[in-house]
Amino acid sequence: MKVTVGVCGGIAAYKAAELVRALEKHALDVHVVMTEAAQQFVQPLTFAALTGHKVITGLWDADGSGAGEPGAEAASSIEHMDAAQTTDALVVAPATANTLAKFAHGIADDFLSALYLATTAPVIVAPAMNVNMWEHAATRANLETLAGRNVRIVSPESGYLACGMTGAGRLAETEAIVDAVLSVLQHRNDLAGETMLVTAGGTREALDPVRFLGNRSSGKMGYAMAEAAQRRGARVILVTAPTALRPPANVEVVPVVTTEEMRQAVMNRLDQTTIVIKAAAVADYRPRVQADQKLRRSGPLTLELEPTQDILAEVVAQRRAGMLVIGFAAETQDALAHGRDKLLRKGADAIVLNDVSREGVGFDADRNAVTFLTRDRAMELPEMRKRELADHILDEILALRRPRKVLAESDAPVSGD
Ligand code: CTP
Repeated sequence: MKVTVGVCGGIAAYKAAELVRALEKHALDVHVVMTEAAQQFVQPLTFAALTGHKVITGLWDADGSGAGEPGAEAASSIEHMDAAQTTDALVVAPATANTLAKFAHGIADDFLSALYLATTAPVIVAPAMNVNMWEHAATRANLETLAGRNVRIVSPESGYLACGMTGAGRLAETEAIVDAVLSVLQHRNDLAGETMLVTAGGTREALDPVRFLGNRSSGKMGYAMAEAAQRRGARVILVTAPTALRPPANVEVVPVVTTEEMRQAVMNRLDQTTIVIKAAAVADYRPRVQADQKLRRSGPLTLELEPTQDILAEVVAQRRAGMLVIGFAAETQDALAHGRDKLLRKGADAIVLNDVSREGVGFDADRNAVTFLTRDRAMELPEMRKRELADHILDEILALRRPRKVLAESDAPVSGD
């Protein structure tokens, strides 16, 4: 697994070398990114020698020939996207007040802050600074913002500080930072051994060679599910209708266009699959006849449509013992009632219910809010980034694998039975 260590400028920067060694002892592939200030305290060469990888020291390569310091490498703005996609965790130690402020406010003026914005991997920060900076209201507010975004904070310790003052602000023990990284990564490996088939995007049914019937699905939620599952150790097969998205790394991609193609792609792979996630928005109808040539305008046009097959229902009919089947439902009114009806009608283990009439969530948005609906429960997952939501949905799916607990009073049955 790949861990990126971000090193900021501060006396404690030298302790990052110890952290890198400790992470490597856990067989992690460690890469280092240094801020400009960090390079005033430690040479990039130290980290290059420890990790065997070039250290990324800046966003821009001024003369186009590589960064000046031995072992250092400036990276292009495209490379931070790549680093962001391939890392399994980002740990920033020491994290200065300045870098925490940049993270909290979405400022991306160096490689590390751009990486923070671009990655969907879990982020851990281990702050180190002067006690007054640590206790300042601005730093408190920034940390609160970051904690609210699920950034794991390994708090500094109290003691004698390099600035001569005594108080909180000393970088946490290496062991505490390593523990935080390991606990985040272990959580991420909880789908090892599962093969997850995810459908995504909106299928298209051609009317003629240039037009089709389609829908507004962007595929973002399905792709987020695929990426999250892959990061947590599952083998992932992504059966995708056309989208404008780049497929996640290390996922087997099966491109399809029509509902029938999606049906065949899914059914052909069902025997390898342990969890089916049907996030695709599937065309329910297709033109009975597809014109060979482009249709010409000539007064009113009536299309005759025929229903397509319900892939989810077919999957449920052919499921093997132990296989989990999860459907999605995008509803515009009476969402809960329609979702419940769909859950029972389709026989899925759960339906991820999406009320697309809400502003700013659902189709094509980067954020979403859903209800995870099973026969006994309706779990509200509040508005958040789709990638983050994908992890919460996976947590709920994994909970279905565990023996069912006795219902607590707060878990009121939604089906009434
Ligand atoms: N689905 C499917 N095959 C279809 C239609 C839908 O597999 N032909 C799946 C979708 O991928 C989704 C779930 O069924 O996981 C619910 O899709 P939705 O379009 O909301 O359900 P419909 O059966 O079309 O119900 P309705 O038209 O009544 O809303």
